[in-house]
Amino acid sequence: MKNIAVLISNKGTGSNLAAILDGIDKKQIKNGKVVVVVSDKKDAYGLVRASQRNIPTEVLDLREFLSSGKTRLGYDDDLGKLLKNKYKIDLVVLAGWMLILSQKFIKYFHNKIINLHPGLLPDSGEYVTLSSGEKLKAIRGLHTNAAVQYAIDHHYPVTGSTVHLITPIVDNGPVILRSEVKIKKNDNVYKLYDRMKKEEHIILPKAINLFCTDRLELKEGKVVIKSA
Ligand code: GRF
Repeated sequence: MKNIAVLISNKGTGSNLAAILDGIDKKQIKNGKVVVVVSDKKDAYGLVRASQRNIPTEVLDLREFLSSGKTRLGYDDDLGKLLKNKYKIDLVVLAGWMLILSQKFIKYFHNKIINLHPGLLPDSGEYVTLSSGEKLKAIRGLHTNAAVQYAIDHHYPVTGSTVHLITPIVDNGPVILRSEVKIKKNDNVYKLYDRMKKEEHIILPKAINLFCTDRLELKEGKVVIKSA
C-alpha cells in the first residue's frame, strides 16, 4: 500500500482532493491511501474536506516560517522531512499547491511527485502537440484562473490540464496524462474551468492509480504506461 500526501492551498476548493478520496473509496485507485493533507494556508477548504473524512492535516504557513528567521529553502527541507519521516510518504500529489518546490524538497521524492497543471504541457520544449496534430504554446508559470484566462485571451481553440511528474524546472517534467478541452465561442474563465475540472477529476485519480499499481516507467525522460 502506497502512502500518499496531497498538497493543497487556499486558491482552490479541494475538489481534486475530493476526487482522489472518492477514487480510493470506489477502488478506482488501488494500492494507495491518503495519509496526510498539507496546506500552506490554514483557510484552505481542502483541509475541511480532509477533516470530514478523518484524514490528518498539516498547515505549514510559509510567512510564519520565514518570520521565525528560517529560510525558504529551509521550508522545503522541513516539508520534505515531515512527509518522509513522520508520514512515510511514497507519493506526493500537488493538487492546487501554489509554492514552487526546490531540489531541497524534490530530493526526498525523486520521480515521486505528481503535479496537476491547468494547461496543456509537453514532455519538453515550448510547444505541445494536440491530438489533432496542431501545435500550441504551452501555458506555464500561471496558476488556476490565470492559466485558464490566458488560453481565452490568446484565442486558443483548445486548452486542458496535464498530470506530470515534477522536476526542478517549474511546469516541466514527464507527462503522465493530459486532457484536452475545447474552448467555446462565449466561454469565460468560470465556464471553461468548470469543464476542465471535470476532466481533472478523471485524469488525476487515473494517474495516481497508475503510480500506485507500479505501471509508470520512465524511459529517456518520458513516461511509459505499462499494461496491467
Ligand atoms: C486545479 O485546477 C489544478 O489544475 C491547479 O489547482 C487547481 C486546484 O483546484 N493546480 P481544486 O482545489 O482541486 O478545485
